[in-house]
Formats: sequence, structure tokens, C-alpha cells
Amino acid sequence: MSFLKRNYGWIIVAILAILPIFIILNMTNIDFTDGVSITLIESAGNNGMTTLEMLYHISGEFAIRWMTAVLTCTPFFILFGVNNLFVRQAMGIATAIWSFLHFIIFLVAEGFLETFAQVNYVAGFIAVLILIPLFFTSNRKSMKKLKMNWKKLQSLSYAAIFLSLLHVALLEKTWLIYAVIVGIGFLIRLPLVKDKIIKFRINRRRLNAL
Ligand code: HEM
Repeated sequence: MSFLKRNYGWIIVAILAILPIFIILNMTNIDFTDGVSITLIESAGNNGMTTLEMLYHISGEFAIRWMTAVLTCTPFFILFGVNNLFVRQAMGIATAIWSFLHFIIFLVAEGFLETFAQVNYVAGFIAVLILIPLFFTSNRKSMKKLKMNWKKLQSLSYAAIFLSLLHVALLEKTWLIYAVIVGIGFLIRLPLVKDKIIKFRINRRRLNAL
């Protein structure tokens, strides 16, 4: 019971991140009779989307949503003083896995060379490349090993979100809401704003304790 009490945060993130994988599996046929062959189930998309478009849609949306969520962890901590490293790391892993899955769907459907056919794909590709070292160092062991360099490495996530937003904006898909959330987060991180919020929070706590 105490395990659940201490770990429920990242467990919820893991469940939320894993559930949509079943939707994707429902749209594909995986056949193991002669090696592994994956085929798409026809007309599994809705709102006039083909199955492939739907796969891009689900994987891309979850990738950008988790990326936005993980970048709101620091502003959330500044605003409310609540921080949980395991939740943050689970969100980071969810971001990377959904982005890799999105790219794998593209690789299977279009092939690697097609990645360089459009500027927006190249932007997404660089974001995916950035996520590789972030994914492998999203754990306490790497944190201890890399010390100060860990924070520097993690700050590459700012480039990843910028490139991902560029990718989605160039595709003329929903990007503004994510840009606004991430943008407000960056405003809150500005030292001037951050110090004011933290001072306000500490003063309020002192007053409440009187
Ligand atoms: C090599 C890397 C990538 C490739 C080749 C790629 C390719 C694509 C393709 C083909 C689409 C569908 C476009 C359409 O329906 O017209 C798409 C959509 C999208 N991608 Fe990517 N992508 C990559 C990386 C990323 C990354 C890193 C993210 C976010 C973290 C992302 C987020 C999205 C989103 C949100 C959509 C729009 C989904 C929708 O609403 O329909 N992509 N991508």
C-alpha cells in the first residue's frame, strides 16, 4: 500500500501513456506466421481520415501533448511548489516513446529517405534525434553520473519543442495551444517572474502559519 502511495504519480502517467497504444494496435494486423508482417486495417480512421492518417494523428498528438506536459513541470513547481522527479521522468519517457512510434509509423509507410522530402519532416526528425539522448538519460543513474551536464543536456528539450512546434505549424495542424502553454511556462521561468512568484508563495505560507 505504501508503494502505491509513494508511486501513484508516475503509475498514472504510465497508464495514460500506454492506453492509446491499444487503439493503435486495434488499427493494425500483426501476423507472425511468416516472420513478422504488419498491415493496416482498412477504414479504421474517423472524421474522413484514412487508417494511416489516423495513426499519424494519434501518435503525433500524444507526442506533442506529453512534450508540452513535461515542459510545464518546472513552471508548475514555481507556481505551486510541487515537484516529483519520477512523474517528470515518466512524462519524458512517454514523450520519447510516442515520438519514436510516430517516426516508426512514417518509416514503415514512407521509408527513411522521404524524411528529407519536406522541411517540416526534417524539423521533426531533428527533434526525434534530440529525444534519443534525453530518453536514455532520463533516470537517476545518469543524473548522478552527468551531474551539472545533466541539466545542460536536458535543456535540449527546448530545441525539441521548438522544432516539433515548427513541424506541426508547417503541416498546418493544431499547434497554437501547445505554443501558448509552453510560452506561458517560459515566461514563468524568467528569473524576475520566478523570484516574484516564489517570494509571494513563501510570504503567503508564512501568513497562513500565523
Ligand atoms: C522524423 C520525424 C517526423 C516525421 C517524419 C513526421 C511525420 C509526420 C507526418 C507524415 C504527419 C501527418 C501529416 C498529415 O496528416 O498531413 C505528421 C503529423 C504530426 N506530427 Fe509528425 N513527424 C515527425 C516528428 C514529430 C515529432 C517529434 C512530433 C512531436 C513531438 C510530431 C508531431 C506531429 C503532430 C502533432 C502531427 C499532427 C497530427 C494531426 O493532428 O493530424 N511529429 N508528422
